[in-house]
Amino acid sequence: MEAGLVSHYVRDYERHVSTLLKMYPPDEAMALAVGGRYEAVGQIELDILRHAGLREGMALADIGCGSGRLASALSKSGMEVDYLGTDIVQELLDYAAQNSSSAYKFKLHQELTIPAPDETLDMICAFSVLIHLNHHETFLYMKDMCRALKPGGKLVFSFFEFAEESHWEIFEQTAITYRYKTLPALNAFIERPVIELWSQKLGFDPPVFIAATEAVKGSQPLGQAVAIVAKP
Ligand SMILES: C[S@@+](CC[C@H](N)C(=O)[O-])C[C@H]1O[C@@H](n2cnc3c(N)ncnc32)[C@H](O)[C@@H]1O
Repeated sequence: MEAGLVSHYVRDYERHVSTLLKMYPPDEAMALAVGGRYEAVGQIELDILRHAGLREGMALADIGCGSGRLASALSKSGMEVDYLGTDIVQELLDYAAQNSSSAYKFKLHQELTIPAPDETLDMICAFSVLIHLNHHETFLYMKDMCRALKPGGKLVFSFFEFAEESHWEIFEQTAITYRYKTLPALNAFIERPVIELWSQKLGFDPPVFIAATEAVKGSQPLGQAVAIVAKP
């Protein structure tokens, strides 16, 4: 991409990762870059995908896979999945590849599109990714996710919402760091009626939600709300 046309999310996340790598040992920096609790959160994300219907042999795209929290948990689980991880920062992808199955594919991709042909994916997930985008950017992503999913395929993504009391602190903290220009990356909120509207406009089925404090069977709460949206 030409200088001057770099998207806010690429500029912010590249800077965030490079700052962390200067401040911490590599493993710590790579865990902090995706929000920490590397193994625990990876396992919760996998539990959510299983709950949403992820099964052996499926084609899964993990958008904004970061340093591989999910890829690493999925590898350890032994479930064989045709996995593609995308991200906008090469250092994160390299770390994810080192920590997961050699059969997994990783791709640097900085556009709001899914690098897969039409109707080829069974599931697409985006954990803690759309929180870093504006609404119109998320809508464009969802539109292309719909294109890449097979009929019956599912999109699973996490989000912050004002209805969740524990998310208020994140909003307030974001506002303060924004004022002092120390915000590492945007923290956007999306409300459920907005996700319902986008799903309807894009031809998805009505979304099913998991609250931020709710755990799927045998797991722990993620801390962000989750939407599961099926393509009819
Ligand atoms: C909080 S981390 C979460 C990483 C991973 N999904 C997880 O749960 O461990 C956010 C990730 O989103 C990536 N990201 C930010 N904007 C993105 C975009 N527009 N497309 C794809 N990835 C993006 C960042 O580089 C970062 O790896």
